[in-house]
Amino acid sequence: MLIEKTKHPKAKPVDESKLTFGDLFTDHMVIMEYDEGKGWHDERIVPYGPISLDPAAMILHYGQEVFEGMKAYRAVDGRILLFRPEENFKRLNLSNERLCIPLVDVEKCVELTKEFVNLDKDWIPSAPDTSLYLRPFIFASDPHLGVRPGKHYYFMIIASPVGPYYPEGLDPVKIYVETEFVRAVKGGTGFTKTGGNYASSLKAQAVAKEKHYTQVLWLDGVERKYIEEVGTMNVFFKIDGEIITPSLDGSILGGITRKSAIEILKSWGYKVTERKISIDELAKAYDDGKLEEAFGTGTAAVISPIGHLNWGDKKIMEINNGKIGEVSQRLYDTLTGIQWGKIKDTFGWTVEVK
Ligand code: COI
Repeated sequence: MLIEKTKHPKAKPVDESKLTFGDLFTDHMVIMEYDEGKGWHDERIVPYGPISLDPAAMILHYGQEVFEGMKAYRAVDGRILLFRPEENFKRLNLSNERLCIPLVDVEKCVELTKEFVNLDKDWIPSAPDTSLYLRPFIFASDPHLGVRPGKHYYFMIIASPVGPYYPEGLDPVKIYVETEFVRAVKGGTGFTKTGGNYASSLKAQAVAKEKHYTQVLWLDGVERKYIEEVGTMNVFFKIDGEIITPSLDGSILGGITRKSAIEILKSWGYKVTERKISIDELAKAYDDGKLEEAFGTGTAAVISPIGHLNWGDKKIMEINNGKIGEVSQRLYDTLTGIQWGKIKDTFGWTVEVK
């Protein structure tokens, strides 16, 4: 594989404790191309920088794009660890399949990721709650204005040293239950990671922000009744000792942190149930004093306690007195403990980069 190292390395962040999310990028990036009849070819690592696109490139008109989010961690013993990277590329292929984008070779993508992280390893921060966020993505780039799948694609990976996704860090976030706009419906693209899902969420997020909420909680697009996800996170509720998370019915993203949280919680002996849960059921549990905790899970956000839920004019739920709950804290400590190599990885989820 071609590796072209930069001749102009950028200055690295001086104070890692001030890192925000997604504002800084490393020195290099991965590129691979696809052509009909040729398959994926010409994988290379080159200096990070702008790319040139034809104004008629299909991505700019019809949004045929998919992406992933994963992280590289600097473990306490100096090792560099990835967390379940093959799961990300398997999910990328699920998205690819739905968006008519050619599938990628999962093993090859993991190898490319390792090579890339190794080259830019000096960018992996080591301050608490920091990591190197990796963003693989694919888009159609051939110039054409008819609506059809592209014939030429770029696969790229860029990397960004990051701190917490939410400015709140591990402090509970305030979430607005969205009753006007919808994110996804069964049969649509809600289960994929494609830019359009996020573009269509911006309006609701802007309205929620005006009301001083961090994010919105999406309800199902048909009955506006069942809880789906936050958009940047899957959600979990602890009700009367049981942990409940919406089942993946086609309109919710199958989060890798979600899947890992379920496995950890079960290993601790919790009853974890994946099922439909309505906002009315949640409000009733709250009224009955049984809603003990709520939290979100995601690669970017890790575990984010939800301290306050606003359901329109109907109800304000102040969960666990607006404080982080015991399960959320323990899950955060365990997950990040595995990711930063502080806790033995009995699940076999981490992959060392060397
Ligand atoms: C992630 O958690 O990695 C995401 O993709 C969420 C968001 C940053 C888009």
